[in-house]
Amino acid sequence: MPLIELKELEKSYGAVKALRGLNLNVPKGSLFGLLGPNGSGKTTTLRIICTLLAPDSGQVQVVGLNALKKAREVRRAIGYVAQDVAIDKILTGRELLKLQGDLYHLSPVYRDQRIEELISRLVMSDWIDRRCGSYSGGMRRRIDLASGLLHQPQLLILDEPTVGLDIESRSTIWQLLLELKNKGTTILLSSHYLEEIEALADQMAIIDEGRVIAEGSPKNLKEKLGGDRVTLRVREFSDENEAKKISKLLETIEGVRQVVINQLQGFSLNLVVDDESVLKCIREKLASADLKIFALSQSRPSLDDVYLQATGRTLMDAELELVGQRDMKLESKNAMR
Ligand SMILES: Nc1ncnc2c1ncn2[C@@H]1O[C@H](COP(=O)(O)OP(=O)(O)O)[C@@H](O)[C@H]1O
Ligand SMILES: [Mg+2]
Repeated sequence: MPLIELKELEKSYGAVKALRGLNLNVPKGSLFGLLGPNGSGKTTTLRIICTLLAPDSGQVQVVGLNALKKAREVRRAIGYVAQDVAIDKILTGRELLKLQGDLYHLSPVYRDQRIEELISRLVMSDWIDRRCGSYSGGMRRRIDLASGLLHQPQLLILDEPTVGLDIESRSTIWQLLLELKNKGTTILLSSHYLEEIEALADQMAIIDEGRVIAEGSPKNLKEKLGGDRVTLRVREFSDENEAKKISKLLETIEGVRQVVINQLQGFSLNLVVDDESVLKCIREKLASADLKIFALSQSRPSLDDVYLQATGRTLMDAELELVGQRDMKLESKNAMR
């Protein structure tokens, strides 16, 4: 049974189409990763699930309820940890958690017991009685997470939970999420970090331009892609002409599915090959053209390859594209002034 079921979600902000017919199923008990670059619609999707935002059209079923009609019941069943939260600066962390417990109508005894548990679990005792104004990003994130967990929700939703955090905070959060999953909590988290999805998720979806374009377990998605990845250089820094020449040569080999020239890495060549046996043919072909191999590495498909296959670009390129678009918009705005 899916704990979250989204059908054909559409959402625009003025002229910006944020979601374009998004479909998503999150199975009960899964640690589900929603992977996508900045601007792909992750936060919009999560806010709709949490009933903080209404879609223009589509269906939203959460914990078996129609979230568009039963917002209050849905909110009681879920915990939401937002991407950026403005937390009160005057209150201490403990006071903030107490307030949150009261919002959920927890009894004072149970509330304080939960707060103690979370303080210890998230290693917050050293600073929990300090004012929130002095907290680092990692401390704030832990407070947010504790707030979302106070009422022991069956569904926890986190928007990019570790963006910009130090390694220690990140690993504390990762461990807690895995622990919660093992105890039966269903978790949906968004991220634009491949490593995060790789480390945590047992199910995932790739979101791009407001649509889900691939869905499954990370393992299945990688296996479905098939083939081995090979990176090859004939010298440390090649040039474009040489790379093109070698690329042509390699394309003639049976079992080589794809050759891409990677300009950013000194014109190295990235290949997709059927299997390991193709490496021998590559060596022979290069030797017959009097070329020596400077470096060669081989790997199984990664989530980045899955992303590349689904979208036609790497996650890194997608992020750079967005930064580029933003810069261009700024430039044209400035030019109009
Ligand atoms: N409040 C808003 N007003 C206008 N545009 C918005 C607003 N929130 C998000 N957007 C736009 O909607 C798209 C999706 O945004 P978002 O859901 O925040 O994506 P993500 O969380 O993946 O970065 C982006 O193009 C973003 O600029
Ligand atoms: Mg976001």
